[in-house]
Amino acid sequence: MESNKNYKILITGGAGFIGSHVVRRFVTSYPEYTIVNLDKLTYAGNLENLCDVEKMPNYQFIKGDITNVTFINSLFNNHEFDAVIHLAAESHVDRSILDPSSFVTTNVFGTVNLLNAALAIWKDHFDNKLFYHISTDEVYGSLSDSAYFTETTSYDPKSPYSASKAGSDHFVRAYENTYALPIVISNCSNNYGPYQFPEKLVPLMIHNIRNNKLLPVYGKGENIRDWLYVKDHAAAIDHVFHRGRKGETYNIGGFNEWKNIDIVRLLCGIMDDKLHRPSGTSEKLIEFVKDRPGHDMRYAIDATKISNELKWNTSVTFEQGLEITVEWYLENKAWLDRVTSGAYKTYYDNQYKNR
Ligand code: NAD
Ligand code: DAU
Repeated sequence: MESNKNYKILITGGAGFIGSHVVRRFVTSYPEYTIVNLDKLTYAGNLENLCDVEKMPNYQFIKGDITNVTFINSLFNNHEFDAVIHLAAESHVDRSILDPSSFVTTNVFGTVNLLNAALAIWKDHFDNKLFYHISTDEVYGSLSDSAYFTETTSYDPKSPYSASKAGSDHFVRAYENTYALPIVISNCSNNYGPYQFPEKLVPLMIHNIRNNKLLPVYGKGENIRDWLYVKDHAAAIDHVFHRGRKGETYNIGGFNEWKNIDIVRLLCGIMDDKLHRPSGTSEKLIEFVKDRPGHDMRYAIDATKISNELKWNTSVTFEQGLEITVEWYLENKAWLDRVTSGAYKTYYDNQYKNR
C-alpha cells in the first residue's frame, strides 16, 4: 500500500497483545489514516491495552465478533475500508487442546467471513486494497534438526491451534488464486513484551515469580522457540503493509532461539535482581511438569526475505527486550492483577491441576 493516503484500515483483534501494539503504531505513526479496531473482547482482549491512544481523533473502537456474518457484512457496508489487517484469533495452544472447535470457529470461519465481506465490497475494484493476514510459524510444524522455516517450507501443523491457523492461511491464498483478492500473509515466531496475557510462557513466569508460585516447565524444558520483541513484530507488519508485494508471504523472526528452561532461568535472574531477592531464590520455584500433548520440539524462522527485501530488522537484543518486559510488568502490577483475577484463576487451576 502506498503511504500518505487517507486510508481507512480495519484492524481485527486490536485489543489483544500484538494487535494493541499494531494499533498504537498505526494510530500514532500515520495520523492521516483512520484506524478502526474491531474486537470481541474475549478473555484475551483488553481495552486498557490502548488507553493511551483511545482518544486520538483517527482511532475508533468497535466491539464485535468476526464470526457474525450479518454484523461483518454491515460493518463493511458502513465503512469504506481500504485495507484489513487481520489479527483476531484464538491464540493459545493449550486452550486449543482443551477446546479445538472454538479455534475452528474463530480462526477458520472468522477469517473466511472477513474474506467474503472484503470480496463483496471491493468486488473487482482491487486497486490500493489489501487483505493482510497475520499468521504464525507454527503452521510449518516442528523442526528436529538445524533447519529453518522458510516461506516455501511445506505446511505441517501439529496442534489444533496451528491447524486452524494453517486452514485460515490456505483460505486467504485460495481467495487470491480464485477471486484475485489482493492479499499478503506474514508468519511470525513467538512474541514477548508488554500487554501479553499471562497464559503464555514469559508473562506467566513473571507473574508466578512475583507471587512466589511454582514455575511449571513442560517436560524437560528442552523445547526451543524463536523469540521476537512484540514492537519489532509491529514494525515488521508496518513494513509488510506498506512495502510487501501482493500475494507474497513474509516470515518474521529474530534468529533468536532459546530452550524454554534457559528463558525461565534468565527470567529468574532478572526478577531476583529487580525484586532485590538473593540470587538463586526464584530458580528454586522451577518445577518440571507433565509435557504438553504433541509438544512441538523446535521452531526457527529464516527471516532473510523480509530483511533483504523490505529492509526490516530487529531493534533490541533478547536480553534488552526481556529487561524492558520485566520492568513493564513490575510497573503495571494493577494490569497484571486485574487480568489474573476471576476467570484466569479457573483456567490456571484447570490447566495445571494434574501436572
Ligand atoms: P491475543 O490472544 O492476545 O489476542 C487476540 C485478540 O483477538 C483479542 O483481543 C480477542 O478479544 C480478539 N478476538 C478473539 N476472537 C475474536 C472474535 N471472534 N471476533 C473479534 N475479536 C476476537 O493474540 P496475540 O498473541 O496478540 O496474537 C494475535 C495474532 O497474531 C493471532 O492471529 C495469532 O495467531 C498471531 N500470532 C501470534 C504470535 C504470538 O507469539 N503471540 C506469534 C505469531 C502470530
Ligand atoms: O510460534 C508462534 C506462536 O507462539 C504463536 O502463534 C502463538 O499464538 C503463541 O501462543 C506461541 O505459541 P507457543 O505454544 O510456542 O507459546 P507458549 O508461550 O504457550 O509456550 C512457549 C513454550 O513454553 C512452549 O514450548 C510451551 C512452554 N511452556 C508454556 C507454558 C504456558 C511451559 O513450559 N510452561 C508453561 O506454563
